[in-house]
Amino acid sequence: PYETRVRALMARMSIDEKLGQLQQLAWTGATGPGGGQTAAAEKAARRGRLGSVLNIYGARTTNTLQRMAVEESRLGIPLVFGLDVIHGMWTTFPIPLAQAAAFDPAVAEWDAEVSAREARSNGVHWAFSPMMDVCHEPRWGRIAEGDGEDPYLAARLAAAKTRAYQGDDLRSRRRLAACAKHMIAYGGVEGGRDYNTVDVSEARLRNFYLPPFRAALDAGVATVMASFNTVSGVPAHGYRHALTEILKEEWDFGGFVVSDYNGVQEMIVHGYAADRSDAARLAFDAGIDMEMASTTINEYGKRLLRRGEITTERLDDAVARILRLKFRLGLFEHPYVDEDTAIAGPTKASRAAAREAAGRTMVLLKNERSTLPLDRSGSIAVVGPFADSTDLRGSWAGPWAEEFRPVTVVDAVKDAAPKARISHVEGVDASGRNTRGIARAASAARATDVTVVVVGEAATLSGEASVRGDLGLPGHQERLISAIADTRAPFVVVLLSGRPLTMEGWLERTPAVLQAWHPGIEGGNAIADVLFGTVNPGGKLPVTFPRTVGQIPIYYNHENTGRPYDRANHYTSKYLDVANGPRFPFGHGLSYTTFDIGEPRLSVSRIRAEALRKGDTVEVAVAVRNTGRLKGDEVVQLYIRDPVASIVQPVRRLSGFRRVSLGPGRATTVRFRLSAEELGFWTQDPHGRFLVQKGEIRVFAGNSSLAKQGRTLTIT
Ligand code: IFM
Repeated sequence: PYETRVRALMARMSIDEKLGQLQQLAWTGATGPGGGQTAAAEKAARRGRLGSVLNIYGARTTNTLQRMAVEESRLGIPLVFGLDVIHGMWTTFPIPLAQAAAFDPAVAEWDAEVSAREARSNGVHWAFSPMMDVCHEPRWGRIAEGDGEDPYLAARLAAAKTRAYQGDDLRSRRRLAACAKHMIAYGGVEGGRDYNTVDVSEARLRNFYLPPFRAALDAGVATVMASFNTVSGVPAHGYRHALTEILKEEWDFGGFVVSDYNGVQEMIVHGYAADRSDAARLAFDAGIDMEMASTTINEYGKRLLRRGEITTERLDDAVARILRLKFRLGLFEHPYVDEDTAIAGPTKASRAAAREAAGRTMVLLKNERSTLPLDRSGSIAVVGPFADSTDLRGSWAGPWAEEFRPVTVVDAVKDAAPKARISHVEGVDASGRNTRGIARAASAARATDVTVVVVGEAATLSGEASVRGDLGLPGHQERLISAIADTRAPFVVVLLSGRPLTMEGWLERTPAVLQAWHPGIEGGNAIADVLFGTVNPGGKLPVTFPRTVGQIPIYYNHENTGRPYDRANHYTSKYLDVANGPRFPFGHGLSYTTFDIGEPRLSVSRIRAEALRKGDTVEVAVAVRNTGRLKGDEVVQLYIRDPVASIVQPVRRLSGFRRVSLGPGRATTVRFRLSAEELGFWTQDPHGRFLVQKGEIRVFAGNSSLAKQGRTLTIT
């Protein structure tokens, strides 16, 4: 709808002004190397040589800069302001990995809606979210920021979050433009080391890494961000195959591609671009439309044009994509925000949403002898480095929201159990160097009815460039758990982390473990809700939990070897020194009640491949019953296996999930639809070929990736 206005404006723009639109500068350098580019941004805004600014927020700050662009530059083209609103602006929601554990798109939607309202009213137009990097590498700190290891789950959540950020009309003061990131295969970095190498086949690219991007695109995502890794020998910022051939040509993406922070310039360090001019050419040719932080395209664009190394058509294409978003956001009509009505902090309602969201993300990993839920009377010791800590927000929680401190676990426990006698001992500090309090924590445990041990990783141990080589509890936290276990008094462990942690040293002796992730501003309250049973946990693992780091990569949707593990046969695929299989499988999570999930019932047992290709589907009905005594949530999970195909298929593939809430004794039937999208797969064809092949497909239903209840569907 804005095409005429875009073209009319472009007709008035000089080459310099066009190149200026492709530039994004960092107001502060908070999220990348180098300092802030504040002075350069102001100067460029006044001269009409700037398209966007990142790391900026605040109604007054953004209005001031916007005024320079709109009122002082020749054409008055407004700037678009971007920020890493990843899981909250003022109201910090649980980290995205935790949101994925809810197996409920509504949780991602609540975050996006609250974030959009708070950010937009503070002058931000564009969130660098959702992050959708499918990841098999828990050492990688950025696993915290995405949806885990499964492309199907990530795709559903990417679509939901995109829709919730953007709504139907980006001009709305309650909406943000979204950014699908990072393209592509960033979650596959070797050794989990950030910014590293990825060597990926076409089939894996399309079957694992691309589906969430496709889903975000179908949901109308406005922008895409390139990734820092190399892809099969080419830095992703220069990977034309993904950014142009697939995204813009095959998928017809009308939005724009933004580079990551200095990502264009870093192609020189990768050893792919000879110099800054070459980096500009390669990135622009590959499909980057806007350059974040580094300035190569802006600096060298004119010369490259003169030499015919980039074309005017490509320049116009990039500029049009960026202007289109500015029109869609309504920035030409309303470039400023109302400074009097800017949302200044979390509200009662946003906190309530964050609390409910966090409650839904908690995963009960273990609960022997019904240790949980706890009694609200008697005595409770709350110990551990995170018991009285506000370090619950997780990585990528904006530094801007630091003043809004999360509720601590110990405060929340006191609040939830006012009649109980609550004691608190830190025991060890978060990095675990100080062990002096361990004995005191053990005495507290001996003297009370039950002990809650709150341990885990500080937020700074996950997120960008925060990679770990060891996934155990940092420092001496394990010693604290052992000392509590030695008392033989009942206790539970609450685990805070941005990734799967290994727990071999203490799990066996621990009766109950609640995986609480980094739960956000209402984290303490949400944990207390689950500890006392106000909320019955229903979250499931969106990523496999390994026993040891040596098992990584370990993920449920792997290919079979020709010699799958067989205890009776030495010559099979296994580790000699570690039990085989994960510590906790993908999809695992317990409840305070029990459920029975029936066999999947298929609407047909045979279907023609041709019919599927034309849009026919198979309905799968799965009955689920709450067989326990409490109301609770179960996630009914549907998996398929294609046992014989022209390329080896994963042993299981999530193909449907639904979180249902059932009272004791109540039952319902969940219905899924299997279409060509779920039943087919991409081949190794370099141009991408999607196949629905004839043969048998096994369909499994259950409450984890170990689901056993299977039926066969024959594709003829
Ligand atoms: O959006 C982020 C990206 O995910 C990592 N590098 C910095 C960007 C902007 O802050």
